[in-house]
Amino acid sequence: MTTLLNSTANTAANKSCAACKGCVSQAAILAASDTPVRLLKPVGLAQDGFQVARFDPICADEFQSVQQAEYASCKRGKNAKNKLARKTRWGAYIRDTFSWQDRTTYSLPKELNPEEGGAIREFEQLDDAFLHNPVTEKLLRAVFHAWGFEKSSEEQLYQVQLSAIRYEPTIETPAWPSPVAPHQDLVDGAIAVLHRTENIVGGLSRIYDLDRRPLVQMDLRVGDILFVRDAEVLHQVTPLMLEPGENWSAGKPAYRDVLLIRFQPVGR
Ligand SMILES: [Fe+2]
Repeated sequence: MTTLLNSTANTAANKSCAACKGCVSQAAILAASDTPVRLLKPVGLAQDGFQVARFDPICADEFQSVQQAEYASCKRGKNAKNKLARKTRWGAYIRDTFSWQDRTTYSLPKELNPEEGGAIREFEQLDDAFLHNPVTEKLLRAVFHAWGFEKSSEEQLYQVQLSAIRYEPTIETPAWPSPVAPHQDLVDGAIAVLHRTENIVGGLSRIYDLDRRPLVQMDLRVGDILFVRDAEVLHQVTPLMLEPGENWSAGKPAYRDVLLIRFQPVGR
């Protein structure tokens, strides 16, 4: 699942074959190898600043129906330059209980998201039915526990911020993540992939060190959750494009749905 960013295939393709006297072509094109490149050690939040985990209940048919119904009503935000369809919801988590607020606005300083220039954007809210679904709540609790906060929800109030995003490219227009460059969000975050149709290319997640050197690139599957410790690494998602293929016909939608989950202790 996780591969090193710099594949050796391109380097090899640019060298002539010194050992082969009959070799005429100086720039032989090598076919891509399907050999998985694996990291030599397990990646962990504490030492590496990021981690990928599995949460299989996302893939269950019943949850997929609930999720598809919810994301079908995602819309482009008001006052947002980015055209992605989204929904958000802010809430509180205390004594192992979630309570959800009515808050529709969201903004980031322009230094962190120059594309939106610090604008206050307004989004539709995620519905209560989706938030109270047992799989959604189990997912949120799993993410909370994975962070290993110092204090449990019995002793500390946590703010929860959810951002549902549907990346839906068309033949004419790619779906652009916002921002598209490697960046930090000022808050730790987990991104769960909830759904992905056929005929999508791109949407690769990349992690960079603080000197902007690429560390890994991964193509997250449905049910994967990527955790990112914001102060320790930069992250990036590559633009998504619709890839017409055998199973695609004009007008057939292709999209990828993710849920961004953020917990922050209140008053810290
Ligand atoms: Fe981000």
